[in-house]
Amino acid sequence: MTELLRNLWYLALPARQLKRGGMHAKVLLGDPILFGRDRDGGVFALRDICPHRGIPLSDGTFDGCEVMCDYHGWRFDTSGRCTEIPSLVEGQKLNLSRIGVTRYPCREVQGNIWIYMHDGKGDDDAALPPVPVAPDIGERPANVQLAMDFACNIDHAVIGLMDPSHAPYVHTSWWWKSKARRRLRLKEKHYEPTPMGFRMARHPNPRGGQVYRLFGKDVTTEISYALPGVRIEHVKGDRHSAVSLTAVTPLTATETEVHQCLYWTVPWLGVFTPVVRRLARTFLGQDRDVVMRQQCGLRFEPSLMLIDDADTQAKWYFKLKREYQQSAAEGRPFVNPIEATTLRWRS
Ligand code: FES
Ligand SMILES: [Fe+2]
Repeated sequence: MTELLRNLWYLALPARQLKRGGMHAKVLLGDPILFGRDRDGGVFALRDICPHRGIPLSDGTFDGCEVMCDYHGWRFDTSGRCTEIPSLVEGQKLNLSRIGVTRYPCREVQGNIWIYMHDGKGDDDAALPPVPVAPDIGERPANVQLAMDFACNIDHAVIGLMDPSHAPYVHTSWWWKSKARRRLRLKEKHYEPTPMGFRMARHPNPRGGQVYRLFGKDVTTEISYALPGVRIEHVKGDRHSAVSLTAVTPLTATETEVHQCLYWTVPWLGVFTPVVRRLARTFLGQDRDVVMRQQCGLRFEPSLMLIDDADTQAKWYFKLKREYQQSAAEGRPFVNPIEATTLRWRS
């Protein structure tokens, strides 16, 4: 349950949190990471521990080119190589090229910084899988971006977010499906496997949904999930698109950060950004609160249930995870265990 998957991309932080010449320290998958942006604007990530005597490198200084540890002044370049040890005197032979800090591949994409949390075995940047992207929106950053800490293991955050039957109970408010107006409807959606997960096949949006008219005619939606916990919902019409990208990043085995990024191509929708941000915060906050209350019960380690078809996607998530771990342990390619099917539930 608590296994954190390695050798995958994780959304680490919004790019705007990292200024030129700046550093940002953060624990991801239980590892201390130092993020930085050099003076040319490039981003990098290093293990945030000085190899000399273990003090966090983020306690030191960064001049836009090198990080200097503030204990004994050792210097490291942005690839983690040690470049200077001030205490050395002439004649003292120490091969600096053999001293270094672990480096993690890092990319800035659509306003986010992603990190490839490797297992320390390979370091070939060219062989890395692509970073997840919001389709159809180019390089622009998110119009609305928020992050929330969920006090739970990544698994509960992921299955809580993908859960199709909680919405009428959890996402209620006066403006959206109030408890009094709760009416469950039959849902029937087709699913198909993708390289690292599955997707709800593209389907037409309900007629009469006023909001969808913004996107033009023939508005359709596709929702995909991929390991380690990336959900991309893509609404597309003949004129415009909107994308909701949710990325779940474990900080430790019991703390998880959920990033929510909303992108759209409708230009004048910008005036509504504060409203959309507020709604998104309320919505994600409801997911966080229910998962927090769930922890009260989980403390007693009850056995849990996943039922068909409402929890089938949660079952798939665990299946994908198991196959990912098994294929890595056996040194063979990942084979997606999911088959195309139609799921039916009421929500
Ligand atoms: S602990 Fe970093 S230079 Fe000594
Ligand atoms: Fe939810």
